[in-house]
Amino acid sequence: MTKFTPSLALSAALVTEMAAINAAKLIGRGDEKAADQAAVDAMRNGLNAMPIKGRVVIGEGERDEAPMLYIGEEVGLGKGPEIDIALDPLEGTTITAKAMANALAVMAFAPRGGLLYAPDVYMQKIAVGPGYDAGVIDINASAGDNVGALAKAKGVSPDQIGVCILDRARHSAMIEELREMNVRIHLIMDGDVQGVINTTNPVSGVDLYMGSGGAPEGVLAASALRCIGGQIQGKLLFRNDDEVARARRVGIDDLDAVYDIEGLAKGPTIFAATGVTQGSLLDGVRVENGHVLTETLIMNSMDGAVQRLRSTRRA
Ligand code: FBP
Repeated sequence: MTKFTPSLALSAALVTEMAAINAAKLIGRGDEKAADQAAVDAMRNGLNAMPIKGRVVIGEGERDEAPMLYIGEEVGLGKGPEIDIALDPLEGTTITAKAMANALAVMAFAPRGGLLYAPDVYMQKIAVGPGYDAGVIDINASAGDNVGALAKAKGVSPDQIGVCILDRARHSAMIEELREMNVRIHLIMDGDVQGVINTTNPVSGVDLYMGSGGAPEGVLAASALRCIGGQIQGKLLFRNDDEVARARRVGIDDLDAVYDIEGLAKGPTIFAATGVTQGSLLDGVRVENGHVLTETLIMNSMDGAVQRLRSTRRA
């Protein structure tokens, strides 16, 4: 059985730190690809220096479309624990290029087979933080019904519930439905991994995350909730035959399946995220007095540890 030790979690955090620092050099330069590549290069170098038999299961894309950190790529020194890795070297390429809030470098570890091999398609998602009975959220119910159920469980009225939603035209009907209930809606430009994690942070004012975003980001968010607590459900969304074929290639037969947290990330999990741009979850990379400052969230489901690591290095 793979041992997810605190030192393995710390090593994962060093890798997201390196990715964030490299990507941060491209903040505000208007070049999404360059920022992503900088993060990919650093994350790959960091992973390849780790004493693990790692395999990328959620990565930069399929082998023919991503030269590095593609799905199936073996990483690490080839000795040590066998680990499946979900990664997003730069979660928020556009926000980094535009110097906007909340871009992260993110990674999750699980033992072989511990993560859903999610294809790069959209996923309908709903997530809530810890402390509620199983079943308080239901992806098949309406947004209004979910808010109503959560408000009842929390003992408040629906207008006291905060819902985080990606600001996209496809969410306009849901937003309208929630506006009618006077729900507090936290619209985000990008970055729904962070949107989901914020449901676990009472200071964020976010109780629920709802809407569709990337399926890979759904697995990353579930990995974090496995450590910190909370519930998430996801359902893959397919826009065309090519997307269905992507799912079939990674072994998904039931295209209508609803994945709960176990279905997305089961067993022990390590999660690490470093802020790239300044955000509500994490501070971004800063350079001060010749030093680079980073903030990283490290979580380990083995002992439920949730740590924040502030690092300073010579620039
Ligand atoms: P990138 O890292 O590729 O920029 O993705 C950011 C993101 O906002 C994710 O957090 C989210 O899951 C997805 O894009 C939403 O996709 P879309 O922008 O197509 O709505």
